[in-house]
Amino acid sequence: MSRVKRFISFEGIEGAGKSTQVKLLGEYLVSKGHKVLTTVEPGGTHIGTKIRNLLLEPQNHMDPLTELILYYASRAQHVREVIYPAILKNTVVITDRFTDSTVAYQGYARGLDLSIIHALDEIVVPDLKPFLTFLLDLDVEEGLRRNRRAQKEDRFEMETLEFHTRVRKGFLHIAAHEPERIKVIDASRSTEEVNREITGIIEKLWH
Ligand code: TMP
Repeated sequence: MSRVKRFISFEGIEGAGKSTQVKLLGEYLVSKGHKVLTTVEPGGTHIGTKIRNLLLEPQNHMDPLTELILYYASRAQHVREVIYPAILKNTVVITDRFTDSTVAYQGYARGLDLSIIHALDEIVVPDLKPFLTFLLDLDVEEGLRRNRRAQKEDRFEMETLEFHTRVRKGFLHIAAHEPERIKVIDASRSTEEVNREITGIIEKLWH
């Protein structure tokens, strides 16, 4: 699968600060004269937002395979309705989560066979891989604390510490296998410091 230059993703555990960094990188690239679209998974479309609600509502008891397929249903709509058309119009797309989240959450943390995820991925997004992925890495307890402070409570926030620890390890494992694409960023630092490192990497590797 080929990496697409105008496609950048952010990944990480809960509370790592992805949405803030997506916004800041978007503003930076606009200031450099790029057309930019920032988006989010699950979601990013009308249908995707409905699927997102299904996935995150705390009262929904969901089979792991149902969960996996819903994430890919949201992604199928997202790439076709939003991501591909934007990239074709020379817009830089920055997404808050993409396929690596599925591998980390449904694969490493839920325990679904990675071969099922890769097979679905081949069907849904056979030719779209981010050029760069920023993995915002943070201590799990600190991330959950930050989210509790922000009063964020969904089906995943309610998972155990062990679950989130498996997610973090999953992400680091994926990153170790793809060091060219995935840059691990220490997200325990201030918003400004994290942003500075990210824009530094963009200047070096992307322009
Ligand atoms: P968010 O809160 O970062 O917007 O993400 C929503 C939740 O969905 C988060 O707990 C991670 C989870 N998730 C998965 O489990 N698999 C996926 O493929 C994606 C994109 C997100």
